[in-house]
Amino acid sequence: MGAGRDQPLVAVTGAAGAIGSKVVEQLVARDAAVLALDVDAGALGALEADGVDIETCDTSDLDSLGDACRAAQQRRGPLRAFFSNAGVQGPTKPVREVTEQDLLETYRVNVTGVFAGTRVAIELMTEHGGGGRILNMASGSGLRGTAGLSVYVSSKHAVVGLSRCAALEVASEGIAVNALCPGCIDTPMMHAVAEGLGEDESSIVATIPAGRYADVDEIAETAAWLLLDAPVYLTGATVPVDGGWAAG
Ligand SMILES: NC(=O)c1ccc[n+]([C@@H]2O[C@H](COP(=O)([O-])OP(=O)(O)OC[C@H]3O[C@@H](n4cnc5c(N)ncnc54)[C@H](O)[C@@H]3O)[C@@H](O)[C@H]2O)c1
Repeated sequence: MGAGRDQPLVAVTGAAGAIGSKVVEQLVARDAAVLALDVDAGALGALEADGVDIETCDTSDLDSLGDACRAAQQRRGPLRAFFSNAGVQGPTKPVREVTEQDLLETYRVNVTGVFAGTRVAIELMTEHGGGGRILNMASGSGLRGTAGLSVYVSSKHAVVGLSRCAALEVASEGIAVNALCPGCIDTPMMHAVAEGLGEDESSIVATIPAGRYADVDEIAETAAWLLLDAPVYLTGATVPVDGGWAAG
């Protein structure tokens, strides 16, 4: 079925990336209308399809994010779900070498961008009074530390904290806010992090109870469920999809 005003509108940031593009696929397969947002206009073009609106947008720019979502609402009806997925890996270096610039660049996307997405989503969902689901991409790095990855790890801990606070603020309005915490996924970002840390990937896999990296589809299916089908009573949660890594 083609998406129209009767399909739920879901916004996805970082939509052109390894995980975002699979989430868009999963949402369309579940008959949602998708607003796909990314800074990478070229890669975003590949997502153009029936039911998918693409918009080049820097998520840390609150005004352009709000404008893009309001314009999509005009075409597709009220925003029902928002996935702040855009993120960058940041530098791999010890704390004593981290610069202010390292923090500003990584936090701008991973923290300011997720704050902006959460705020826009709350504003729009509150305006139409119909509840909704907000999902923020944290990571296993939002739950545990890794030596050499302090900038990324601290940014993802911030995503977990923000999601918990927002969940408390809007639960009574029927809006769920959760943080997704995937472990290691078979993606270019994961391979780049392993290389930056100077780690042999087989030694990383050895720390995962399931004995393997996640497939992107496993993360995308979980995200699509949390965005479209999960009870809104499931809120304020950190949802690990990590082969048991954070349980230890
Ligand atoms: N890959 C993993 O193993 C892994 C594990 C846990 C969590 N995550 C998180 O999942 C998310 C997606 O990761 P991925 O592997 O798909 O990475 P990716 O690099 O493939 O995709 C990230 C996307 O975000 C976009 N982006 C970057 N800055 C942006 C901005 N300011 N505004 C809008 N878009 C912007 C990029 O253009 C890119 O398309 C990230 O938040 C990442 O931290 C990834």
